[in-house]
Amino acid sequence: MAYETIIVEVDDDVATITLNRPDALNALNSQLLGELAQALTEADANDKVRCIILTGSAKAFAAGADIKEMSEKSFVEMFLGDFFEPATEAVAKVRKPVIAAVSGYALGGGCELAMMCDFIIASETAKFGQPEINLGVIAGIGGTQRLPRYVGKAKAMDMHLTGRFMDAEEAERSGLVSRVVPVKQLMEEAQSAAAKIAEKSMLASIAAKQAVNRAFETTLDEGLLFERRLFHSLFATEDQKEGMSAFLEKRTPQFRDR
Ligand code: CAA
Repeated sequence: MAYETIIVEVDDDVATITLNRPDALNALNSQLLGELAQALTEADANDKVRCIILTGSAKAFAAGADIKEMSEKSFVEMFLGDFFEPATEAVAKVRKPVIAAVSGYALGGGCELAMMCDFIIASETAKFGQPEINLGVIAGIGGTQRLPRYVGKAKAMDMHLTGRFMDAEEAERSGLVSRVVPVKQLMEEAQSAAAKIAEKSMLASIAAKQAVNRAFETTLDEGLLFERRLFHSLFATEDQKEGMSAFLEKRTPQFRDR
């Protein structure tokens, strides 16, 4: 499918989706969100793809939901239209690992989109924020729920109530991002992480992703049981036999997702 607001590239086994509305700092309008939902669904269904990278430009990952598009909307239009839903559902449904590679502004819906990914690699210029309070609203695609899970209540409240931005160094210190690299190395770092993930058994990758995500949804006891059952079930796979034999035989495993 031809997209106008995103660019999709599939290289080896990694799909890179680049948000591409440079004139609006990649603000999330309904066209972009629709295209993103479609591209994520296609990448997840593509057997060749083993990991997905979501990125923006050097200046902005995304500066939030599109304020121009939203500004005149009524409650009824927002309620019935819920134009964020297809994309948020699509991100949540992706079974393959998704890395957010963030440079520049990740604000409002941009910060929320990055947090929906499995982990965030940031460039030194990244700035995260939930400045919706400055517009007389609050976060609408998960910011009040996900940010405290990443950085704790104190910083999340601070960001949501004051609208201040968090730079990359603070974001790494606070647990919002997993690594920070110079801006020129951002894509190289994300691609190298994606390539590492792509080498693994997809069965184990999906199980790991589901188990970690479960930690945010359930009690410790239930989460531990869920993890143990997934761990046990992986012993029914050829990839477990291959992975452990390869270790013992001091060779590189050849996983086949079986
Ligand atoms: N929506 C629509 N357009 C946006 C936008 C947004 N969220 N953010 C930036 N733009 C547009 C600007 O209007 C401007 O367009 P024009 O040239 O046509 O005027 C262009 O992008 C460049 O922006 P600036 O001139 O403002 O660039 P800057 O470098 O001076 O400032 C910025 C950058 C600090 C990110 C500033 O653009 C800004 O504050 N943007 C808004 C951030 C924001 O409030 N985000 C939250 C949106 S609401 C939301 O996301 C709700 C939700 O949770 C679902």
